[in-house]
Amino acid sequence: MGLIAIVGGTGLTELQGLELTDTRTLETEYGVPSAALEFGRFGQQPVVFLARHGKGHTVPPHQVNYRANIQALKQVGVEKIIAVNAVGGINPQMGAESLVIPDQIIDYTWGREFTFADQGNVLHVDFSYPYSEPLRQSLLTAAAELGLEVHDGGVYGATQGPRLETAAEVDRLERDGCDIVGMTGMPEAPLAREAELEYACLSLVVNMAAGRSEGIITMDDIELAIKNGMGNVRAILAQLLS
Ligand code: HPA
Repeated sequence: MGLIAIVGGTGLTELQGLELTDTRTLETEYGVPSAALEFGRFGQQPVVFLARHGKGHTVPPHQVNYRANIQALKQVGVEKIIAVNAVGGINPQMGAESLVIPDQIIDYTWGREFTFADQGNVLHVDFSYPYSEPLRQSLLTAAAELGLEVHDGGVYGATQGPRLETAAEVDRLERDGCDIVGMTGMPEAPLAREAELEYACLSLVVNMAAGRSEGIITMDDIELAIKNGMGNVRAILAQLLS
């Protein structure tokens, strides 16, 4: 397989098991990525790792330089990206600690730098099916080999953040057909498409979305779900890369 990158989100700022061979701080024409790119091997497989929110988790979703991140990965020869995201569950079947490999996405973000096609180059990239099906299948196979349950498909609603949603906003997302809600799926996915990189997403549900459980959403609950669920994410990545 071509060079693969893992873009780690909340709860995944490093890739355990990565034999680090090089770290490169890149500058792109769109600015500096969230963190230095980490090059290494996972078993036999060369891998690049990028912490979407920075190594110290200091860059909030609306301030991530998505263009620099995707451009930097493209620049070093990456062909495929597995994006890991922490999300809220809207579909009642997608409770905390569930894993979802979405197949569709709806954009509710605003004010982000969301395209490479604004330099006098007109580009209307096809985005009917936003995720790479072969890469989705690789994730599904890896999960099946481990006997881990994952949801095959689902609609990711990408919100602006950094605040969580109101209950009414989540009702609207549900009416729109969203199964999960996160803050980083857009514009990462279309930028990857514009850059002609295969892209798929492995989402860990870390809370039920607003108004979908008793009481309010607490960081303690989110952290607990990350602690309990990120091991499965790591296992799937390791299986896929091995
Ligand atoms: N909403 C949006 N993004 C999220 C959530 C949520 O409930 N949980 C984790 N990321």
